[in-house]
Amino acid sequence: MADFTAAPPGAPPPLRWDDSPDGPALLLLDQTGLPAEEREIACTSIPTLVDAVQRLAVRGAPLLGLAGAYGVALAAARGGSVDDAAERLARARPTAVNLALGVRRAHDAHRAHLAARPGDLAGAAAAALAAARALHREDAAASAAMARHGLALLDRLAPGGALRLLTHCNTGALVSGGEGTALAVVLAAHRAGRLNRLWVDETRPLLQGARLTAYEAARAGLPYTLLADNAAGSLFAAGRVDAVLIGADRIAADGSTANKVGSYPLAVLARYHEVPFVVVAPSTTVDPRTPDGAGIEVEQRAAHEVAEFAGVAVAPPGAAAYNPAFDVTPPELISAIVTEKGVVSPVDVSGMTRLCAVSPSSDETM
Ligand code: MRU
Repeated sequence: MADFTAAPPGAPPPLRWDDSPDGPALLLLDQTGLPAEEREIACTSIPTLVDAVQRLAVRGAPLLGLAGAYGVALAAARGGSVDDAAERLARARPTAVNLALGVRRAHDAHRAHLAARPGDLAGAAAAALAAARALHREDAAASAAMARHGLALLDRLAPGGALRLLTHCNTGALVSGGEGTALAVVLAAHRAGRLNRLWVDETRPLLQGARLTAYEAARAGLPYTLLADNAAGSLFAAGRVDAVLIGADRIAADGSTANKVGSYPLAVLARYHEVPFVVVAPSTTVDPRTPDGAGIEVEQRAAHEVAEFAGVAVAPPGAAAYNPAFDVTPPELISAIVTEKGVVSPVDVSGMTRLCAVSPSSDETM
């Protein structure tokens, strides 16, 4: 019997645990096939899961955390080396801190069980799975809380009227146990009658905006318009953006935020045009051990992702390419960080420190 993550009505869940008679599997919606094809990948081994993470078949910070936790549970349930699985999963991608955190959560549960009941491998596997499921539930709850806090923030930052919101990459139910991060706020705004238009950056080179956010927006019936990333400047100049909402892969202790490459230029544009630039992420994306943006490891990806478009070469063979997966926006360009614990604004070390000390569900602005 499989259990499902939250997902938009009619949409397949991005990830689900399957206790089939052939042995447990982690089923992933292969995001590389969207929007054309909704197919699942059955992961029954850690190499298959690591490959899915690295190809971005499963992606987005909160979902990577869930994949990491369920991956440890998978290794435990299938009788593999849990230590080895944890190590390989945690370093499959370096930037999203949620991945290592999810791995640690299930690994710690597994180790704690074995410490209490040496030799009870079945019990330890169940403990790892329970930890993954708990993280999954918490992520869904965090998503709902971020939507509430984010909508209240929009009411303060941009009172009255329906808003034209711009987003980058993909931050919806495809990356979460719930409705996502930034896109959860957009959905809340839509339900509250406050969304005039969602501007969707296509998000080169892998088109998470065009392929995934547009797919989710269409399913949810949002009024959305797709644009090439380099069209955003003229949109700001024309006064047609009221706020930017993006997610995050890692937020450092000073509020510096790593997110999909192209986020930083949007922050610069937003500041120049005096438009709020808002980061929406669960507190699991905040990494107090990374002091500032310089401490965030930015994943560098293969040249062919830039030199090809949808698998077709658009550059001479062997062309060198600069292909960082993320860029880092400094705190002074961020109007607010929305988490499930509340909103940090202004974004600085003291606000971030207060956030880390707060218990969940505060309605405070820090
Ligand atoms: O390379 P990806 O597709 O995993 O990058 C994802 C992003 O940059 C998202 O914006 C981020 O993980 C936030 S998801 C809520």
